[in-house]
Amino acid sequence: MRPVLAFFAFASFACAQDIILPDGKAKTLIQNTCTECHGLDVVVSASMSPEEWKTTVDEMVKRGATLSKDEKETVLEYLTVYFAADKININTATAEQLKSGLQLTDAEAEAVVTARKAAKIKDLEALKKIEGLDAKKLEARKSLLAF
Ligand code: HEC
Repeated sequence: MRPVLAFFAFASFACAQDIILPDGKAKTLIQNTCTECHGLDVVVSASMSPEEWKTTVDEMVKRGATLSKDEKETVLEYLTVYFAADKININTATAEQLKSGLQLTDAEAEAVVTARKAAKIKDLEALKKIEGLDAKKLEARKSLLAF
């Protein structure tokens, strides 16, 4: 059996080496924590909405992934941005989609809806200027945004 085991060990090593995660705060954390039970391929081939990622990561923690509360937030932010389901069009998404897709609060989603009635929101800079929105949160999720 030995040669077979050696082959599998080598194959999974080669596989882990092939996958390069985008740079970000959670990169090392994910490389270390999310490879205890499966390869990174499982992670990078997923694309999910923020809510689905939250459910998935909660599920992984239940299964045994060791993440502190802060680390979980960092991992979620990262996965949500880089492995997102669909972009959210700021000018056409419903308030519900703005909330679930970008994790905006009720008030923030309303602020977007009110602002775009007056004029089309043309880019991230214009979006960040809307009163009541958290510019940092939007900056972090910019890869999810379409205008
Ligand atoms: C304690 C073991 C364990 C750890 C640690 C772990 N996972 Fe998993 N993960 C699993 C198992 C088992 C499955 C397969 C579940 C199935 O077949 O439905 C899985 C499946 C997945 C899937 C695909 C399933 C789906 O719901 O689409 C994703 C994505 C995923 N894991 C992400 C992660 C991320 C991100 C981390 C790090 C935060 C992580 N996993 C850490 C055990 C683990």
